[in-house]
Amino acid sequence: MTRVTGYDVAALRARFPALDRGYAHFDGPGGSQVPREVAQAVADTLTAPIANRGRTTPAERFSDEVVLGARAAMADLLGADPRGVVFGRSMTALTVDLARTLATSWGPDDEVVVTRLDHDANIRPWVLAAQRVGATVRWVDFDPETTELHADDVAAQLSDRTRVVAVTGASNLVGTRPPIPAVAARVHDAGALCVVDGVHLTAHAAIDVAALGADVFLCSPYKFLGPHCGVLAATPAFLETLRPDKLLPSTDAVPERFELGTLPYELLAGTTAAVDVLASLGPDDGDRRARLVAGMAAVEAHEDRLRTRIETGLACLPGVSVLSRAAHRTPTLLVQVPGGGRRAHEGLAERGVFAPAGSFYALEASRRLGLGDDGALRIGLAPYSDDEDVDRLLDGLAAVLPADPPAPGA
Ligand SMILES: Cc1ncc(COP(=O)(O)O)c(C=O)c1O
Repeated sequence: MTRVTGYDVAALRARFPALDRGYAHFDGPGGSQVPREVAQAVADTLTAPIANRGRTTPAERFSDEVVLGARAAMADLLGADPRGVVFGRSMTALTVDLARTLATSWGPDDEVVVTRLDHDANIRPWVLAAQRVGATVRWVDFDPETTELHADDVAAQLSDRTRVVAVTGASNLVGTRPPIPAVAARVHDAGALCVVDGVHLTAHAAIDVAALGADVFLCSPYKFLGPHCGVLAATPAFLETLRPDKLLPSTDAVPERFELGTLPYELLAGTTAAVDVLASLGPDDGDRRARLVAGMAAVEAHEDRLRTRIETGLACLPGVSVLSRAAHRTPTLLVQVPGGGRRAHEGLAERGVFAPAGSFYALEASRRLGLGDDGALRIGLAPYSDDEDVDRLLDGLAAVLPADPPAPGA
């Protein structure tokens, strides 16, 4: 079994106080565990002399530097311009605001395109915004057999009326990574904007927003070892064209124009610390962007190796069926098990193995897969997952599955 050269998972795990509790976490797609450095950065920011952003007192300068530092960190993680990095409460809140802002220029002749593969946070904000102005919503389907979403199927929904295409960088339910550069090229040929939900993808791959072709890219630091907030990245030039609702005294500068109220400085400091942890996972040379690209490549290789081990193990369990089948995907497996996902979730939890069951807000995808609103068991890997976790998962599943299995999903 090949280990990923230079990827020291034991050393990484030692940085996570939560892992001392002895649980095996396969619940990362819902939110990752947090390294000590991130918690320390949050605490240090809360306890330092701090004031609203400014350049006069040390307290004002501190919060200013926290914000600028977090924009720089996210820009390095995403290959984006720090002046186009917006912070918000969550990806959902940022998307609702973005859709509402964009929709002020839409009318009944306009169309928006959403996909059935997406988390509802990249569907409903667009559907609601379109409904409000009488615009048409067009749906892109995915293939439930392969869980692939094809660029041609997106292209089939485009016209000169299309204003926005909202598509996921990776499915949080089945892990599918649609061919975003090809999708974005078709969207741009149609003269529309491509908004990419990168929440699931950013935890598992090196991101280059420009190479993806995303006009807007959103993600959530709590999925990649950071605290609970949301991030939107776009070019400053694009952000300058938008007029979000704002208070009279608040600045009209970009990106602050999009950040309602006072930012959570402590969470921003934690976000910078999380990015620095990811940068420490690759070779110790080059600037932070270079280390992040190498670090995330190492994470991807490590997680893919463990995913293959899990798939091999699941194939030996009678009645278990893996629904995640796309050629290019994250290490997130949706699995139908005899006795049902909820039963397996509970049985595993009794053994200290955490793999939840559900549809995880990817409601359209769950329904399209024939799983209704209940979904199935989701097994998600994270940078801190290790071989022992995988052994515990496979042993736990073998123990909790009914001896005489009924049909999957029954
Ligand atoms: C793919 C995907 N998109 C969007 C979201 C919503 O993110 P947030 O909780 O930051 O609103 C999630 C959360 O699970 C997700 O997995």
